[in-house]
Amino acid sequence: MNVLLTGAAGFIGSHVAERYLRDGDAVIGVDNLCTGSVNNLVHARTHDTFSFVEADIAEDWLALEAHVKGLGFVPDLVLHMASPASPIDYAELPLQTLAVNSRGTQNCSAAALRWKARMLFASTSESYGDPKEHPQRETYWGNVNPVGPRSCYDEAKRFGEALMMAQIRKAGLDGRIIRIFNTYGPRMRANDGRVVPNFVTQALQGQPLTIYGDGMQTRSFCYVDDLVEGIYLCAASEKTHGIVVNLGNPEEYTIRRFAEMVCDIVGVSLNIVMRDIPTDDPTRRCPDITRAKELLGWQPRVPVREGLERTIAYFRGGSGHIVAQTRPHLRQRYDRSATEADRAQ
Ligand SMILES: NC(=O)c1ccc[n+]([C@@H]2O[C@H](COP(=O)([O-])OP(=O)(O)OC[C@H]3O[C@@H](n4cnc5c(N)ncnc54)[C@H](O)[C@@H]3O)[C@@H](O)[C@H]2O)c1
Repeated sequence: MNVLLTGAAGFIGSHVAERYLRDGDAVIGVDNLCTGSVNNLVHARTHDTFSFVEADIAEDWLALEAHVKGLGFVPDLVLHMASPASPIDYAELPLQTLAVNSRGTQNCSAAALRWKARMLFASTSESYGDPKEHPQRETYWGNVNPVGPRSCYDEAKRFGEALMMAQIRKAGLDGRIIRIFNTYGPRMRANDGRVVPNFVTQALQGQPLTIYGDGMQTRSFCYVDDLVEGIYLCAASEKTHGIVVNLGNPEEYTIRRFAEMVCDIVGVSLNIVMRDIPTDDPTRRCPDITRAKELLGWQPRVPVREGLERTIAYFRGGSGHIVAQTRPHLRQRYDRSATEADRAQ
């Protein structure tokens, strides 16, 4: 099978690439490296059937499609994972976040139709906003502030979902949508601002852990290998055509309890600093994964403690690469040629 994967150099995308490559599939990974890194592709690049194209899928689509065609590559599956995903990234890149989930999704879905390919769109639990229903089922419409500081991400993903549904209903796209809940694991950026890398790097550096609010807000944490398996099954299934599937770990933790677990594994005593809770930060977040269980036979297998141990080992190894939070090229229009990264190989 030929897979076109957007966001391939990101945390989740790089793991997804390896899942398909291990099966013998051919993968073209596309990424503009705005939040990802080619370092994440070291393993993927050991496969002959992998190639990487540096391109912005919202801005450079024509060049990208011409490049793919030039390689004689006709995708059977389009996995659209590209998007800034952490709050500090999308606060830094609000317009790009809106563009990649709107224009980027339009570009991917229109090409998937031309290629007669199946498409999976990676949406998010942020589609539910600060939920009033608990746990969140796919049928819940959400509680989203359309003009708040998170809206560039939440509403972009909701628009992407609406666009997918329009393409499915009107044009016959073989599409499906996943809503990913908090996922963690190796290759998260140490400074991406999300709770797992925050806590882990602070604990490893012997610093106090930063807790926003009273720490009684809850999150559920899914280990990346489990998520990747869910993505793989969802993309392969005939039963998920035209529907949304939650993928996440329903085991719910208060942030405070999670901080205690991180410190316990690292072997330091819990020391915290409290900060004001960010605007529109959800108070509870937990997926109902009945649909994924019934349709895909999927549920997370890696216990949170075990996943954390593996993640902490990764960060201990020093490979939690810390990238600058603002890069000069982020502020420019992405107009580089689609093959820049190939030349660097
Ligand atoms: N990690 C999570 O917990 C989580 C939760 C919900 C949803 N998601 C979704 O999963 C996907 C991957 O998230 P992640 O955590 O791996 O984030 P990430 O930032 O590590 O990866 C995203 C990748 O997309 C690339 N990208 C962004 N805009 C692009 C564009 N216009 N063109 C080409 N590439 C572009 C980035 O450079 C990066 O490599 C995202 O769509 C995100 O919204 C992630």
